[in-house]
Amino acid sequence: MAKITSFKYIIFLACSLVLNLLFGSLYLHGEWEQSWTKTAAAEAEAVASISSCSGHGRVSLEGSILTGKPVCECNACYGGPDCSQFLPHCVADADSGDPMFLEPFWVKHAASSTIVVPGWHRMSYEYNDGSLILKELDTQIRKLHSVIGNAVTEGRFIIFGVGSTQLLHAAVHALSTGTTSHSDSSSPSKVVASAPYYPVYREQTEFFNSEDFKFNGDTSLYKINNNGDSQENVIEIVTSPNNPDGQLKKALLQWSICEDNP
Ligand SMILES: Cc1ncc(COP(=O)(O)O)c(C=O)c1O
Repeated sequence: MAKITSFKYIIFLACSLVLNLLFGSLYLHGEWEQSWTKTAAAEAEAVASISSCSGHGRVSLEGSILTGKPVCECNACYGGPDCSQFLPHCVADADSGDPMFLEPFWVKHAASSTIVVPGWHRMSYEYNDGSLILKELDTQIRKLHSVIGNAVTEGRFIIFGVGSTQLLHAAVHALSTGTTSHSDSSSPSKVVASAPYYPVYREQTEFFNSEDFKFNGDTSLYKINNNGDSQENVIEIVTSPNNPDGQLKKALLQWSICEDNP
C-alpha cells in the first residue's frame, strides 16, 4: 500500500515538473505572454524618469538616443545641464501661445493617454475595402459632429489633413475664384476674418502668394468699405470659439465661409 502511495507522488511530481518546464519555456519564448510592449514601455518610462531637469525643463527623448545619456531641454530663462541655472535679464517672449501649459494634465494622465504603435501597424496604403480612410474613424467623426451639432456630414466627404491649418488652406484654395482658377473672375478672391483673428490666417495666405486669393484683413472693415459688392468673391474664415479672445463667432458675410472650430 505504501509503495502505491509513493508511486502516485512520483507521478504527480513528474507531471508537475513537466508542466512547469512547459509553461516556463512558453513564457520565456514569448508565446505564453507577449512581452514586447512591456520592453518598449519600460524603455520609454526609463528615459522619461531619468531626470526632472530641476523642474525647469524636460528630458529630451531624442537627445538621449543620440548621446546615450539624458539631455535636458530647458524652459525659457533656465540653462545648464539640468536646467537649474536661472538666466537673469532673459527676455520673456509673449508673442504667441504654446500648448505646454497643458503638459501637467497629460503627465497626470500618462497611462490613459499613452498610445503604443508597433512598427508594423497598418503598413498597407489601403484598407480591405479599397478605401484610404479607416471606416471606424470616418464613422466616429460623423458621430462626433452629430453629437455636437456643428456640421452636417450626411452625403459629405471627410477630408483629412495635417492639422486644421493645412485644411483651411485647401478650403481657401478650393473656394477661390481668382485669375488662375476655372472661373471668369479676373480678380483674386478676398480672404477675411474677424479681428482679433488667429495670425496664421494672414501669414499662410500671404505665404502662398497666390494669384487666386489675397488676405484682406478684418471682416467688419471689409463689410463697411464694400457695402455688399456682390461682384467680389470673398472667403470668410469664422473661428468659434475664437483664438485669441474665446468668443463664439458667427459669419458676418454671405459668401464662402470656412469654419475653424479649434
Ligand atoms: C484658431 C486656430 N486654428 C488653427 C490652429 C492650428 O491648428 P493645427 O495645429 O491643427 O493646424 C490653431 C492653433 O492654435 C488655432 O488656434
